[in-house]
Amino acid sequence: MVKIAPSILSANFGNLLEDIKKVENAGVDLLHIDVMDGHFVPNITIGPLIMKSIKGKTNIPFDVHLMIENPDQYISEFVKHGAEIITVHVEACTHLHRTIQNIKSHGIKAAVSLNPATSLYTIENILEDIDMVLLMSVNPGFGGQKFIPSVLEKIKNLRKIIDDKGLNVDIEVDGGIKIDNAYEVVKAGANILVAGSAIFNADDIEETIKLFREKINF
Ligand code: DX5
Ligand code: ZN
Repeated sequence: MVKIAPSILSANFGNLLEDIKKVENAGVDLLHIDVMDGHFVPNITIGPLIMKSIKGKTNIPFDVHLMIENPDQYISEFVKHGAEIITVHVEACTHLHRTIQNIKSHGIKAAVSLNPATSLYTIENILEDIDMVLLMSVNPGFGGQKFIPSVLEKIKNLRKIIDDKGLNVDIEVDGGIKIDNAYEVVKAGANILVAGSAIFNADDIEETIKLFREKINF
């Protein structure tokens, strides 16, 4: 089963829990939390305090996407507030192997993200140590951007590498995913889809998630 991870970046922060309940009722698999620091990406968003305030109020596992410099400094804080998957960017980690070991030492899943222009070669030597690769299909920083089509080829290539090596590594794709392109992304080899604006800006969130499910489980 392909998983759906709504990104709360496009939720209404004034009624965050209400929006989270809507996606929870629709039976989503993960709650994607976009953490931005204004350095690694040109935007500032959610930090550990927001996570603390929603922890225990939803049963959806937290999928924490760190778009920050020096992620090592904050990993234990995010684990404390409920992270079950932590993703760091290969472009932000000088000692990626050490960072991955740090995440795994807390008994949670570790993932690595690649910007659209970053080659799959950068994770060749770490693939066996991680649980998931997050391929960005927009340049990180903002919700509501357009899907970059060349990423489809990258998803296919990564799926082949993972399958050829017989690894159990998830491929999550993030950015510009809509009901209209979800099928293509899954067909290319992704098994977790992040969607922010397509879900939270929809008039009927539950219906939208239902439509996503129909497109991606074929
Ligand atoms: C972008 C974030 C994404 C974003 C996706 O930097 O990592 O998770 O919220 O939003 P949409 O689905 O609107 O592109
Ligand atoms: Zn994200």
